[in-house]
Amino acid sequence: MSENTATKPTKGILLAGGSGTRLHPMTQAVSKQLLPVYDKPMIFYPLSTLMLAGIRDIMIISTPADLPLFRRLLGDGADLGVTFTYREQPSPDGIAQAFIIADDWLDDSPCGLILGDNLIFADHLGKQLRTAASRPTGATVFAYEVSDPERYGVVSFAADGHALDIVEKPTRPLSNWAVTGLYFYDGRVREYARSLKPSPRGELEITDLNRLYLQNGDLHVQRLGRGCAWLDAGMPDSLMQAGQFVQTIQSRQGLLVGSPHEVAFRRGFIDAAGLESYARRMIKTELGRALMGIANAVPENDAEAA
Ligand code: TTP
Repeated sequence: MSENTATKPTKGILLAGGSGTRLHPMTQAVSKQLLPVYDKPMIFYPLSTLMLAGIRDIMIISTPADLPLFRRLLGDGADLGVTFTYREQPSPDGIAQAFIIADDWLDDSPCGLILGDNLIFADHLGKQLRTAASRPTGATVFAYEVSDPERYGVVSFAADGHALDIVEKPTRPLSNWAVTGLYFYDGRVREYARSLKPSPRGELEITDLNRLYLQNGDLHVQRLGRGCAWLDAGMPDSLMQAGQFVQTIQSRQGLLVGSPHEVAFRRGFIDAAGLESYARRMIKTELGRALMGIANAVPENDAEAA
């Protein structure tokens, strides 16, 4: 690791490949992460999360067939005041493969990774994310209590609250705390990722990467509490629930959920004119009108509202 690693801005990876077999036939012709979650394509939600963390240099990784569609949707990032780099994952050989694919681009920058089908909503999430993104060394993962931990990487804790172990899809989970699909790593992540070997299911496992940090005493596990919603929209029921969740919050509160354009504006990545220009193009939609309202309101630098 070079000496100035800690001072480099954190880059972000949005992993949006995979085969989406649990959503067939919906995902036979189109990427899961392009399916609608109420009024936005799924990828808008994890993208908003990365941007909420203050990340502006973002690599989007997807399948060779789907990558052009993401490019068509998101362009070069100028609309959002960010920079997108696109790269293919030829086959879904594991989440940790993202760091092999992004190796030269990452250099030794710290990096946040989010899975393209993970939706996270919480009060004060922005602050928690910025803390994780600016931690100079180590890795940060987020744990969330679920009723079906055997589907996820599961973290167990000692009595004093520190993380003891992480196990991928355990048959007998030692806790109900699942590791979410949002991770932050310091500049050593490339080196650690290169040292991984494929698991019995043939994937470079993110859990193995996290365990390397854990073994070095360098893994921060941030627990997300009751007031937080973590949804992965990978199955018909969870996709529907995610859409209903977004619709409920948006219509009840009149606030947008998962709009990268709103986050870009509130974070100061774009100005009111930039937001207005995007909103005008979307003006036939509720989303466009909501963004227009935000652009025309008194500017407030209230990131937590994003
Ligand atoms: P999964 O839901 O584990 O896999 P999948 O999307 O292929 O779906 P299914 O199980 O229905 O076949 O992946 C979680 C997220 O990570 C999802 O957004 C896809 C992404 N992913 C990749 O982009 N590349 C990979 O190699 C893997 C394993 C996942």
